[in-house]
Amino acid sequence: MSAATPLHPDHRAAELRAWWMPFTHNRYFKAAPRIIASAKGAYFTLDDGRRLFDCLSGLWCSPLGHSHPRVVEAVQRQVETLDFAPSFQMGHEGAFTLATRIAALAGRPDDRVFFVNSGSEAVDTALKIAVAYHRQRGDAARTRIIGRERGYHGVGMGGISVGGMVANRKMFASLMIPGVDHLPHTYNPAEMRFSKGQPDWGVHLVEELERLVALHDASTIAAVIVEPMQGSTGVLVPPKGYLKRLREICTKHGILLIFDEVITGFGRLGTPFGADYFDVQPDLTTFAKAVNNATVPLGGVIVRDDIHQAFMTGPEHMIEFFHGYTYSAHPLAVAAAHATLDVMQDEKLIARAAELAPVLERALHTLQGEPHVIDIRNLGLAGAVELAPIAGKPGLRAIQAFENALNQGQMVRFSGEILAVAPPFISTVAEVEGMVEGIRRALRALPA
Ligand SMILES: Cc1ncc(COP(=O)(O)O)c(C=O)c1O
Repeated sequence: MSAATPLHPDHRAAELRAWWMPFTHNRYFKAAPRIIASAKGAYFTLDDGRRLFDCLSGLWCSPLGHSHPRVVEAVQRQVETLDFAPSFQMGHEGAFTLATRIAALAGRPDDRVFFVNSGSEAVDTALKIAVAYHRQRGDAARTRIIGRERGYHGVGMGGISVGGMVANRKMFASLMIPGVDHLPHTYNPAEMRFSKGQPDWGVHLVEELERLVALHDASTIAAVIVEPMQGSTGVLVPPKGYLKRLREICTKHGILLIFDEVITGFGRLGTPFGADYFDVQPDLTTFAKAVNNATVPLGGVIVRDDIHQAFMTGPEHMIEFFHGYTYSAHPLAVAAAHATLDVMQDEKLIARAAELAPVLERALHTLQGEPHVIDIRNLGLAGAVELAPIAGKPGLRAIQAFENALNQGQMVRFSGEILAVAPPFISTVAEVEGMVEGIRRALRALPA
């Protein structure tokens, strides 16, 4: 069967068998599959012809909408010119110019960029750089990493170790990297339920870092890694002042601060990076997803110049950092990134995300009082609606809401009891408001 052959309904059971789908209820899905056939702009089309608004920009990764003609053209041109180039001991021009461009967009033009293929790889790369940096400086005891409860940093061994989502960790306890500790998460429904934007309550929770420093001693801690806004765990927004104070404590103790900006990078909060939104600069920034509108896998780490410089020792013919991937800076991914950044710039899409943010906030919070809604949170062009679980059947309520939303032409994301939305930056006001009305109808159609 060629890749383009549509699945015939009679053959589905057999044909759906082999693909073990990621982060999916495989048996439930395959009993009633939802097959995406195509995508254009802010809409997916299923193989049964249904058209769905892409409420989460793919998986937080396609802010331009799908198949933007300039991205398509750039990738087509690239595949004909240079389909692959090794990045070990060789290089291609687009990768150098893209690195320069990303550092400039981050407002850190002297910094360096290490390319990888996913958010998970970006995180593991950043952890390695942090630990190796201290060793390069003769501070080799600094190996400990501090993550945060409910953090999501992908599924590599480093990422699940510093991450704080129990389902992603509990199966793999023996594989965790040693010497990791966690800050508490900042979510307290009693104090912050239905907050709009950053909650007023909770800045004191960052002082837990001082407790961990007192426990482990700063001389053993290499880095702290946090998402500026915790996305995958359901849009947990940092309390006012939290990230600034986190920066102060890290600086005071010589601990590197890593912002995992895989979701917040490239405009989701209406600024180029989350660091700009919160006015707090980390030492290392991981990115992926929206950097090239997810057209071809690409991720990376932005590294402060002096951290990079610490590696530039020893004979010049020697490799300085023994790390990298076959597909680091893949030419197709790089071409897609240049085109994506061109479009973001020419169509002023980051400013557009900032304009749509209050539209989303206003609309989403009108869902307060709808059936089973126990919290609503939002920041930038991202929001979450948390539902009360069905007794004894955790997760089922959100699945039902998700399926009802599909019937309303809305493809939201569900995770646990939470519905998440982060519409494409190209969305119209009517589409954002229509998305929320679709969710409202989906909630009203839930069983009592
Ligand atoms: C903050 C963060 N880090 C890392 C990742 C992992 O990215 P990937 O799925 O590309 O490995 C994600 C994915 O959602 C993420 O949200």
